[in-house]
Amino acid sequence: MAASGTQVKVPFLDLGAQYRSIKPEIDAAIQHVLDTTQFVLGEEVAAFEREFAAYCGAAQGIAVNSGTSALHLALLAAGVGPGDEVITVPNTFVATVAAVKYTGARPVLVDVDPARFTMDPARVEAAITPRTKALLPVHLYGQAADMDPIVEIARRRGLAVIEDAAQAHGARYQGRPVGSLGDLACFSFYPGKNLGAYGEGGIVVTSNEEHARKIRMLRDWGQDRKYHHVLAGYNYRMEGMQGAVLRVKLRHLEKWTEARRAHAARYRALLPGCGVEIPAEAAGARHVYHVYAVRSARREAIMKGLGEQGIQTGIHYPIPVHLQPAYADPAYGPGTFPHAEKAAAEVTSLPMYPELTEAQLQLVADGLRGLAHGA
Ligand SMILES: Cc1ncc(COP(=O)(O)O)c(C=O)c1O
Repeated sequence: MAASGTQVKVPFLDLGAQYRSIKPEIDAAIQHVLDTTQFVLGEEVAAFEREFAAYCGAAQGIAVNSGTSALHLALLAAGVGPGDEVITVPNTFVATVAAVKYTGARPVLVDVDPARFTMDPARVEAAITPRTKALLPVHLYGQAADMDPIVEIARRRGLAVIEDAAQAHGARYQGRPVGSLGDLACFSFYPGKNLGAYGEGGIVVTSNEEHARKIRMLRDWGQDRKYHHVLAGYNYRMEGMQGAVLRVKLRHLEKWTEARRAHAARYRALLPGCGVEIPAEAAGARHVYHVYAVRSARREAIMKGLGEQGIQTGIHYPIPVHLQPAYADPAYGPGTFPHAEKAAAEVTSLPMYPELTEAQLQLVADGLRGLAHGA
């Protein structure tokens, strides 16, 4: 948010700057889709599926129309249905929990590790019941959850592991790419994501051929061939235009990720003494900084003060999912997940995108420092 009437000096996001930097490639890719009229699925989508799966170290990619659809189909492929339970976390975008509800299963929540904001593996075992089918950790803000202990528990207890990697394209855990850490992984290509479409988009990646085959059918009305519906499926197909745009952008993703990481390094150098706690990169992690969330007990004053200086900020997310009316569960009242609730009360997301300039980073730091010292 920026104060109304104030000139925006550091927007929270600048999708226009990125488009201008790759305009000829994007325009040509879109023209190609117009010329070939492959508007739904088609060759560009198929090529993108191969390229993105390879990028994640997975054998198969199945492109769909959103990250939410990706989660829904990954859960169905893992056999999740009514009466089952799926263990996930409360501080995520609601889509993670909503997708579990779509299947008829119950989302069982566990609190997060306060340092990295992701599923605390030490809490998982106690949440498992005979109904538990899958673990659904979220790689929040662009940093992988602590996957080795999570996968170890899942293997020992016969559970599927689905990564919600909607915010973590290109992130790594102990040298391995997210998308290759569990049984299935789901990404979103919502425009503001590190790899963003020019519309909605998502993908499931997996190295399990049976899961891939099922998801490929489910996204396209459950057909194994035209008008032969063997599964009760959905219209979750990716559009050709999005596949073409994403292919172009995938070629730039590593460079953009390195730019984000360089900006995070600048924030790390500039922000000490500015009154906020900066995000930690866990040992062995490659954080891709989809969201650069700092913490402060004075969050509202900081957001207001920065807004008055033309610096936009956000909150990801102000209300944890268990306290959202639509996802309330009698078992989870206020106070049930203290780490997630404290994070929700304290986090502020600072501007973070590849096109940020050094001058803009300085403005953010100077703005915060002024607020800290004026406090
Ligand atoms: C953690 C997480 N999961 C799932 C989603 C859902 O993705 P989409 O918006 O593409 O449906 C998002 C998107 O914001 C997300 O951040």
